Amino acid sequence: MKNFEFHNPTKIVFGADTVAKLSKLVPETARVLILYGGASAEKTGTLAEVRSALGNRTVQEFGGIEPNPSYETLMRAVEQVRREKLDFLLAVGGGSVIDGTKFVAAAALYAGEPWEIAERGGANIKQALPFGTVLTLPATGSEMNAGSVITKKATHAKLAFHSTLVYPQFSILDPRKTFTLPVSQVANGLVDAFVHTTEQYLTYPAQARVQDRFAEGLLQTLVDIAPTAIDTPDDYDTRANLMWTATLALNGLIGAGVPQDWATHMIGHELTALYDIDHARTLALVLPALLDVQREPKRAKLLQFGERVWNITSGSDDERIDAAIARTRAFFEGLGIPTRLSAYALGQDAVEAVLKQLEAHGMTALGEHRDIDLARSRRILEAAL
Ligand code: NZQ
Ligand code: ZN
Repeated sequence: MKNFEFHNPTKIVFGADTVAKLSKLVPETARVLILYGGASAEKTGTLAEVRSALGNRTVQEFGGIEPNPSYETLMRAVEQVRREKLDFLLAVGGGSVIDGTKFVAAAALYAGEPWEIAERGGANIKQALPFGTVLTLPATGSEMNAGSVITKKATHAKLAFHSTLVYPQFSILDPRKTFTLPVSQVANGLVDAFVHTTEQYLTYPAQARVQDRFAEGLLQTLVDIAPTAIDTPDDYDTRANLMWTATLALNGLIGAGVPQDWATHMIGHELTALYDIDHARTLALVLPALLDVQREPKRAKLLQFGERVWNITSGSDDERIDAAIARTRAFFEGLGIPTRLSAYALGQDAVEAVLKQLEAHGMTALGEHRDIDLARSRRILEAAL
């Protein structure tokens, strides 16, 4: 096992009817900015619950944070925070709203041009406003981690940043808030949490037994609950399991002490930035192809994944790896999520465009061995055609 430090300061408040607890979680004297996305938070009544729980505090709102939140939109929130001297942020939404709030929290107190935060991957964040979240979409884990991904529309640049200063102080996870999600977003959430787990598990053996078993438990849970999560939106226990699984998939726990990959995400981000494909959907395009191309360096873990997650125990090693990749592909396709670029009418031109973006963003040595250079990214993308 590798050396590690693990400290996750985010308080989780989990369960039905927990939004009311905001009245205790947000400081009495806070000057609050509620940040949210499009119409869903208002339509579902969540915003009304939030407003009521905040009582007599000074509260302003900023709506319109789009999926794959843009720097351009978020800078308007930064201006509002500075102008109105707001000192506590509250994100109400999915990963995009939470990521956007993390950017606003850091950018509002940043002395230079805030896009530098994304360009430097967060290394230049010295302080950030405190914030909490009310999660409405289980997928990204942003509610309990220190990462964020922001897009500059002007240049089609989608960049991630990390800082321990942007952990949420608290996150409210009420599984009932997910009942209103469209099926496509539930499917996205299942796939995103699945791939967060494989990014930290499907690498090479590190004698990290409990991390492996945690990861396998998360993957198996996602596969087990998927049919009910899709077909029965108001099944509370299923949604509760989805919500907690997605959080645990990217809150640092399973990634402690193990090698990590993240190439699927880095290639996927370029597909979103160029073609506006939902984040999780880009992962379903890249992962099966990447596992095939990387089958040698990942051989031992692919066999373990096949046996422990998919119960594949017979055949030669290569047959078992083929079967594990095929089961993964079928899982995604069964959720209505395509695994081929052709499903989006993308071909060789897209491969070339993504490679150009990867090069421009310095993504030329990806993966747990840093062996995914542009030539190998090309093989992966061509395997996904
Ligand atoms: O905008 P509204 O109207 O609110 O609708 C949203 C949005 O259109 C809707 N929605 C959310 N909750 C709902 C709901 N509709 C009905 N009922 C509800 N309860 O869902 C749509 C998608 O929301 P979004 O927040 O974009 O989805 P998600 O949570 O999948 O977040 C994706 C973003 O997170 C980033 C992605 O790159 C992408 O930008 N990621 C963040 C990570 C992190 N911070 O650790 C890691 C991930 O790998 C990922 O990169
Ligand atoms: Zn993801």
